[in-house]
Amino acid sequence: MNKGFEQHIEEYLNIQRKCLITDAMRYAMEGGKRFRPRIIFALLKGMGIDESEGYDAALALEMIQTYSLIHDDLPAMDNDDMRRGKPSLHKAFREDIAILAGDQLLTNAFRVVSESKSYDAQTKVSIINALSKYAGIDGMIYGQLLDVTSDNEHIDPEKLYEIQDNKTGGLFKISCLIPMYISKREEEAYFTKMGTLIGRIFQNQDDLFDVIKSEEEMGKSLSDARNEKGSALSVYSLDELKALIDEEFDQLYTLLGKADFDTADLKELLNALRNR
Ligand code: IPE
Ligand code: IPE
Ligand code: MG
Ligand code: MG
Ligand code: MG
Repeated sequence: MNKGFEQHIEEYLNIQRKCLITDAMRYAMEGGKRFRPRIIFALLKGMGIDESEGYDAALALEMIQTYSLIHDDLPAMDNDDMRRGKPSLHKAFREDIAILAGDQLLTNAFRVVSESKSYDAQTKVSIINALSKYAGIDGMIYGQLLDVTSDNEHIDPEKLYEIQDNKTGGLFKISCLIPMYISKREEEAYFTKMGTLIGRIFQNQDDLFDVIKSEEEMGKSLSDARNEKGSALSVYSLDELKALIDEEFDQLYTLLGKADFDTADLKELLNALRNR
């Protein structure tokens, strides 16, 4: 756990208006693996920038991640009762409160970045633009649309990538673009590709774990099979999927070999992902 960042989250929640929505946001934010923030910190470190420079942008992204999970668990979507090792927000609070808390986490993300003392005006605009683009219709929201309208029969490798590159890749692209903006780099295609590959690996693993791990281990309901969802395992066998994940790691490491910054910390994080 990254104590500095956890404290940053807590301090931010403590200055929010005290009401049921803030209680619900605090409940939902607790217990995440913070994988998207940790990518930001590892990249920044490799670029010679203190990770605390990334705290506000990482907070914004983690709030969007949390909102996406709250809404993903609602009865109208995946209908899952467990998240982050405890009852889903709509179970612990109420469905209406969960919807509003998700809305507030999304809305707050833009406020955090716009009010941040860590970034100049241009960097704020770039970060807000990436958040709104890739968490929205050019990313996560479009991917969730493809996901909820998918089924396990009408899916092929190409369709699977389309779902993953939007649903999951969206937020990972933001993780990789934030350090690019903070460090004033301009290789957008490079960092977007990095986010895309991490997203594919992450979602392929998640679909695999849906079948081979338990709800206790994952800390969340595993519902793809119950919902007859189009997932990686509708396209690949278990062995094929494991081989694909290995291949995607190779592609990612090849890409990292071309970096103009130190990738040691990011590789350490990715090794932990590989062995999870
Ligand atoms: C869950 O993301 C959603 C997927 C893309 C599979 P995480 O596994 O990162 O969930 P938290 O943030 O740690 O709860
Ligand atoms: C959801 O994918 C990813 C989001 C954009 C929220 P899943 O539905 O597979 O995520 P989990 O398994 O519920 O965490
Ligand atoms: Mg889902
Ligand atoms: Mg789900
Ligand atoms: Mg899943």
